[in-house]
Amino acid sequence: MAFPNKGSYYYCSVLCLYIIIIVANSLAFQCSAAAASSSNNNDQISTLVVNASIASRRRMPDTLFGIFFEEINHAGAGGLWAELVSNRGFEAGGTQVPSNIKPWTIVGEESSILVQTELNSCFERNKVALRMDVLCDDINCPSGGVGISNPGYWGMNIEQGKKYKVVFYVRSAGPIDMTVSFKNAQGGGILASTNIQETASEVSNWKRIGTTLEANGSSANSTIQLTTTKKGVIWLDQVSAMPLDTFNGHGFRKDLVNMLIELKPAFIRFPGGCFVEGQRLSNAFRWKESVGPWEQRPGHFGDVWNYWTDDAFGYFEALQLAEDIGAKPIWVFNNGNFSNPSFIFL
Ligand SMILES: *[C@@H]1O[C@H](CO)[C@@H](O)[C@H](O)[C@H]1NC(C)=O
Ligand SMILES: *[C@@H]1O[C@H](CO)[C@@H](O)[C@H](O)[C@H]1NC(C)=O
Ligand SMILES: *[C@@H]1O[C@H](CO)[C@@H](O)[C@H](O)[C@H]1NC(C)=O
Ligand SMILES: *[C@@H]1O[C@H](CO)[C@@H](O)[C@H](O)[C@H]1NC(C)=O
Repeated sequence: MAFPNKGSYYYCSVLCLYIIIIVANSLAFQCSAAAASSSNNNDQISTLVVNASIASRRRMPDTLFGIFFEEINHAGAGGLWAELVSNRGFEAGGTQVPSNIKPWTIVGEESSILVQTELNSCFERNKVALRMDVLCDDINCPSGGVGISNPGYWGMNIEQGKKYKVVFYVRSAGPIDMTVSFKNAQGGGILASTNIQETASEVSNWKRIGTTLEANGSSANSTIQLTTTKKGVIWLDQVSAMPLDTFNGHGFRKDLVNMLIELKPAFIRFPGGCFVEGQRLSNAFRWKESVGPWEQRPGHFGDVWNYWTDDAFGYFEALQLAEDIGAKPIWVFNNGNFSNPSFIFL
C-alpha cells in the first residue's frame, strides 16, 4: 500500500512531468567502476541524460493550470461570496430551541428585550427563526432602540457611496416600526439607515422586506442592526445584506473575482476538499441542497472546518463563477466517504 502501483506511477509520470528522462545505465556503470577502484566500493554514480530536443517536446495541455477552491476559513461566504451577514437564517445553533444565535448579539438590556429561537420559519427546510419580545416602548426604550446586531465575518466592510441590498423576513401580531442600519462597530457611528413600517395585517403572516441602503461613511468593521422602540413580538428570519455592486451582479466580490481572473485559470475546482466529506457523512456537502432560492436552502454545518455555511454560494453559483471567469468547472462530489471512520453509523 505504501508504494504506488505501476498504473498510478505511469499516470503520474505521463501527466505531471512531460519530460522524457533517459537513464544511461551503461555509462553510469563504467563511471562507478572507475570510482570504485580509488575509494569506497559502495559509491555509485548515475548519470541522467535529459533529451530536451524540440523533436521530443510534448505540448502541455491548456487545462493544466487552474484554481482549487475550498470552503475553508470562510473563503466562500465571508470571502468570495459577498454576503455580509453571518448566520443569516439563525440556523447555525442547531434545531434544538432556544439555540445559540452567534454571532448575532442583542442590542439593549434583558429588561427591555428578550430574544430566542423558535421553529416557526415559513421555510420548510430551515425552520429556525428568531423571536424578539420587545418589552419597552417609545417612552422607556433606549434612544437607539432595542433589537439585534450582526458583525458579519470579522466586521462588515461598508464603503461610503456604495449601495447595499438588505432583505429579511418578518412577522408580528401588531404593526412594526423598525430601523435597519449599518453602524461602525468602533464608536457606533451610523453609516446608513432606513425605516421600515408595516401595518399589522401586512405582517400577520411572514413578509419579505427588501430595502436598499446607501452608506454615507466607511468602516471595515461595521455591523448591521435591526432595532425598534415599539413594544410587541417580532419574528425575523433570513436576514441578508449584500453590496449591489458585485461581479456581473452575480453575488461575488468584484475585487476578489478580478484577482481570480488575473490568475488565468483554465479550471476551477469546487467546493472542496475535505469540505465535501464532513466528519460525519450526514454533514457532507450535498449539491441538491445548495440550489434554488437562497432563503429556502437548509445550509449545513461543515464539521471538518467547524463552521456553518448557509450555502448561498452553492452548486449553481459555482458554475456561474466558472462561466464568469472563463474557467472550466470541476465539481467535486462526495463518493460516500467521510473524514472520521468512528462516525460510520451517524
Ligand atoms: C531526442 O529525442 C528525439 C525525439 O524522440 C530523437 O529524435 C533524438 O534522437 C533524441 N536525441 C538523443 C541525443 O537521444
Ligand atoms: C471590531 O470592533 C469590535 C468592537 O469594538 C472589536 O471587538 C473587534 O476587535 C473589531 N474587529 C476588527 C477586525 O477590528
Ligand atoms: C449618515 O446617515 C445617518 C442616517 O442615515 C445619519 O445619522 C448620519 O449622521 C450620517 N452621517 C454623516 C457623516 O453624514
Ligand atoms: C476516506 O477519507 C479518509 C480521510 O480523508 C481517507 O484517509 C481515505 O483514504 C478515504 N477513503 C476513500 C476510499 O476514499
